[in-house]
Amino acid sequence: MAIAPLERFSFLWWNGVGVGVLEERPEGPTSKDLLSPSERSLLEETVLPQRQREWLRGRLVCKQVIQELLGPECLAPQVEVLPGPQGEPRVHLPEGLGPLDVSLSHARTLSVAAVTARGRVGVDVEPVAPIRQELWRFFLSPDERARCEREPELAPRLWLLKEALYKALRPPQPVPLRTLQPELGEGVLRLRAPFEQEFTFTFLAMGNHLLAVVRS
Ligand SMILES: CC(C)(COP(=O)(O)OP(=O)(O)OC[C@H]1O[C@@H](n2cnc3c(N)ncnc32)[C@H](O)[C@@H]1OP(=O)(O)O)[C@@H](O)C(=O)NCCC(=O)NCCS
Repeated sequence: MAIAPLERFSFLWWNGVGVGVLEERPEGPTSKDLLSPSERSLLEETVLPQRQREWLRGRLVCKQVIQELLGPECLAPQVEVLPGPQGEPRVHLPEGLGPLDVSLSHARTLSVAAVTARGRVGVDVEPVAPIRQELWRFFLSPDERARCEREPELAPRLWLLKEALYKALRPPQPVPLRTLQPELGEGVLRLRAPFEQEFTFTFLAMGNHLLAVVRS
């Protein structure tokens, strides 16, 4: 089954990454037809009822992006997006296709999927809004907090960027975001030891939401 064009679906390319945004009406219909049997059981047996709609929307946008990348013959129920050991989404494709790396993020009625055949990808989406200063210590290092006091508009961007970076980095054990202290260059960020990795990144504005996309 090919995916019919979804309402309010936007797609764009950035640096080898296909990024799809799907916004649904809160009262709109939901369909599980595009799920594989494993995805359907996972949804029904493990996802809390209040998260099911968001979870389903995440799989739909992801499959739509994969069709943009691989073509309409890549049928949705044959593409599976199942969680890895830490909850990270993993794409399972029919033999001979892929591999693809994927990242998902949700904000209210909007879900974003970033998919690439090159390296690892992370995405995060948030409504455009300031972040209260008492929350900064949860995700910013002392140096970053000092910088955000001078440039408060940087705080929500660092939050987005670190969430996307965390998803692309996939540390073997969970780490607090304040311990990820990227050195930011022009579209490039660098993590020092113990990670020692370089990523490219961008911010994308989507209505009243902002997205960060990070790729290794
Ligand atoms: C896992 C985490 C990245 C999810 O982000 P979030 O802002 O809560 O939610 P989002 O809507 O942006 O993203 C949710 C998606 O992230 C993905 N995800 C979950 N765990 C993940 C992981 N370990 N790595 C990459 N992606 C992950 C899933 O696809 C999930 O959607 P799904 O359940 O529908 O498949 C976030 O909770 C997190 O752990 N952040 C940083 C680490 C941290 O704070 N650690 C503290 C403990 S030391």
